[in-house]
Amino acid sequence: MSSPAARPLPPGLVSLADHEAHARRVLDDNAWAYFSGGAADELTLRANRGAWDRLELLPRVLRPLAGGHTRVPLLGRTLAHPILLAPVAYQRMAHPDGELATAHAAAALGAGLVLSTQASTRLEDVAQAVLGDPGRGPLWFQLYLQPDRGLTRELVRRAEQAGYEALVLTVDAPVHGARDRERRAGFRLPPGIQAVNLAGRPAAPPPPLQPGQSALFDGLLAHAPTWEDLAWLQAQTRLPVLLKGVLHEDDARQAASLQLAGLIVSNHGGRTLDTTPASAARLPRIAEAVAGQLPVLVDGGIRRGTDVLKAMALGASAVLVGRPAIWGLANAGAMGVAHVLRLLRDELEIAMALCGCRTLDQAHGTLHSRFANTIYSHL
Ligand code: FNR
Ligand code: LAC
Repeated sequence: MSSPAARPLPPGLVSLADHEAHARRVLDDNAWAYFSGGAADELTLRANRGAWDRLELLPRVLRPLAGGHTRVPLLGRTLAHPILLAPVAYQRMAHPDGELATAHAAAALGAGLVLSTQASTRLEDVAQAVLGDPGRGPLWFQLYLQPDRGLTRELVRRAEQAGYEALVLTVDAPVHGARDRERRAGFRLPPGIQAVNLAGRPAAPPPPLQPGQSALFDGLLAHAPTWEDLAWLQAQTRLPVLLKGVLHEDDARQAASLQLAGLIVSNHGGRTLDTTPASAARLPRIAEAVAGQLPVLVDGGIRRGTDVLKAMALGASAVLVGRPAIWGLANAGAMGVAHVLRLLRDELEIAMALCGCRTLDQAHGTLHSRFANTIYSHL
């Protein structure tokens, strides 16, 4: 077998599902369990996909299409298209080039990139690789608030100095979900792969437990972040802060009242709490709840250009994709990630054209309303 770094793009991959099937053969069982698994029975993982599948598009014909484009406004700039890469940890486990390859591909395809706190590449190296590319999309840093505020402050300062343009605070994972698939596979990080941006700063040991106390609530979660910590974070940084992992419209309203820059409707790709609704099912209510106050993005199960169009139709300002970039990365490094993004964008253009939709602000008219109502009635 050729070395992974030199792996060319395999022939015959014409969809993200093809990339997934091929990546299953390239990745070992350990990495596969981590990258593809969800929490518990993986009902949310499956629901995410099913919800996009159930929505139907209702095309209009003979509408003018010339001059159409996929551009969208987001946080004060114009993006070439509304597809960003979601933060995914430990990408060097998929390919030795890891996050650097993903970042180069995103920049080449004009896609936004969100780097994980648990990236396996230094955040400065990723920023340096792409900041000079004039065609690149936004570069954001995903933050997990650390129990040690000093460490959180240091991460924020490093992200600012390196040139990241926003912070994405992930709030749906104060603790790992029950990752049965990972546990069955006996998942372990391979030697040499680690969260390098946190390295050298081991987490402070949890407070000693008194008899009858919970190892989770009184131990690991003794310093779990709250809305007050969010206010503290905003006071630490000049960067816009987006909240990732919101599913309830009351949380969305609270976020909107706090001068946040945006929301990401997400259930962490079905990896945290199992049996939550699909992110697609929560998107319309949340978009409605905060209408016009701040941009609402969505991720979870987006695998087709038609899914992107449906997300925009349900009120999203942009979308993120997680696992598909990892499949592309495993299959052919930067070339593979670029191919995944290219496929998705091409499919989006085709879907728009076939719906009679020249620009994405016309997306709301593309849904078959009976089925859009079905999504509402699931809530
Ligand atoms: C994630 N996700 C994630 N989110 C986050 O905020 N920080 C992180 O470090 C990670 N790490 C991570 C690892 C892996 C292997 C996966 C699959 C996901 C969640 C991610 O950003 C996103 O919400 C989902 O992946 C979106 O769903 P899809 O596109 O993977 O279905
Ligand atoms: C995950 C963490 C890193 O989903 O967010 O694996």
